Amino acid sequence: MRRAIYPGSFDPVTNGHLDIIERGCKLFDEIIIAILINPEKRPFFTIEDRREILEEVLLGINRSTCTLRVDAFEGLLVHYAVAQKADAIVRGIRAISDYEYELQMALMNRRLEPSIETVFMMPAEKYSYVSSRLVKEVFQLGGRLSGLVPPLVEERMKQKMENG
Ligand code: PNS
Repeated sequence: MRRAIYPGSFDPVTNGHLDIIERGCKLFDEIIIAILINPEKRPFFTIEDRREILEEVLLGINRSTCTLRVDAFEGLLVHYAVAQKADAIVRGIRAISDYEYELQMALMNRRLEPSIETVFMMPAEKYSYVSSRLVKEVFQLGGRLSGLVPPLVEERMKQKMENG
């Protein structure tokens, strides 16, 4: 039984994240999608919104041999990973520019907790420029999000703008 943690802000979840989860499902029996609770950031979606959205969009994922679970965590990722009895942390790498930061995190996490491996995965090329940050910027400036995020995410972003 191989369990991985896929941590992130998921504010919002993008098609790139879903692509990584689908690929991760081929390697792991269980993936816990773990939303970081970060009191210092001012997010677009609350943790509860993000949890709800993730749970719903994950229903559309091809997960024949893998269990997917959504959770939220605070504090050190490796402490959370050990508490969840995980074997690995999955991170997506889009371009070489992601690598430096990801390498630093992976090596720091290894120093803190040598029993947990970091596994880097590459999303499909068509998602190589998609990030939650750009999705929010494009949305706020009135651009189209189709193909970048699941339709539910765009709907929920519109609702949020209308209702506050
Ligand atoms: O989606 P993101 O924002 O790139 O995810 C970053 C995340 C959540 C993986 C990272 O910020 C993290 O692990 N935070 C938890 C605190 C921690 O463990 N910090 C030390 C990392 S070396």
